[in-house]
Amino acid sequence: MTGSGPAVITGAGSGIGRATALAFARAGRPLGLLDRDADGLGRTAEACRGLAVPVETATADVTDEAALREALRDLARRLGGLAALVNNAGIGTEKPLLDHTLDDFHRIFAVNLFGLFVALQEAARIMVEAGSGGSIVNIASVAGLRGSVGRAAYGSSKAAVINLTQVAAVELAPHGIRVNAVAPGPIETPLVAAMHGERTRAAWLRQVPLRRYGTPEEVAEAVLWLAGPQASYVSGQVLVVDGGFAAAGLLPA
Ligand SMILES: NC(=O)c1ccc[n+]([C@@H]2O[C@H](COP(=O)([O-])OP(=O)(O)OC[C@H]3O[C@@H](n4cnc5c(N)ncnc54)[C@H](O)[C@@H]3O)[C@@H](O)[C@H]2O)c1
Repeated sequence: MTGSGPAVITGAGSGIGRATALAFARAGRPLGLLDRDADGLGRTAEACRGLAVPVETATADVTDEAALREALRDLARRLGGLAALVNNAGIGTEKPLLDHTLDDFHRIFAVNLFGLFVALQEAARIMVEAGSGGSIVNIASVAGLRGSVGRAAYGSSKAAVINLTQVAAVELAPHGIRVNAVAPGPIETPLVAAMHGERTRAAWLRQVPLRRYGTPEEVAEAVLWLAGPQASYVSGQVLVVDGGFAAAGLLPA
């Protein structure tokens, strides 16, 4: 079932999650789409159904542990199994470390790490019970690999996602479950439109060797590859999709 079986994507109502759902649909994979935003979720589901794949939806907030576990089980039931999970739902903030509050950390970790952990664990339990293996892809960020201004809570939540990915890859390998992360750089999505001011935008364009923001579709292709059979010997990895940002040293003006 790891190859082309049903995939559940969280945060599928917008941005990278929506693009990922469409890429999976184009690849013919049955889809379970989850988001707290029922309208965005409905729009993504409609677009995917237009590509002639089975699509089931669940409106749930990943910070509600019981609802999230039940939604994942229900989606897997309705889809007839679970071969892949894309843990994409996430939120961010950009503010100086000196202005961060503990509440910023609680709010962001609740979605980006704790919600992701619950979904990963429940999906893994479903896969272990079925005995069919599977693939889990966590959406991290280059903010989890480098110290970036304004990213105290967001960046540390994504660094934690990267380590959790490695731990899960090792512990779940005996069950035939691969776990990887994708770490996007700056990608044009509604999240970024809200988070990146003019100065941030100019700084990214200076520091990304390809000199542009990425598209959600460019991230979706990496996720699709990691989730699918072409990546059958890849586990515990962080695939950076960032126009060369994390690799760069000195850049010309
Ligand atoms: N856009 C970027 O530049 C960028 C860079 C690195 C990493 N990321 C990561 O990619 C992922 C997607 O980001 P995006 O830019 O597409 O954002 P987005 O805001 O466009 O989409 C995020 C989706 O997640 C959903 N969501 C948020 N909180 C949720 C919750 N508690 N429960 C259920 N659904 C929830 C939202 O409703 C939305 O549909 C996030 O994990 C983000 O941190 C984005």
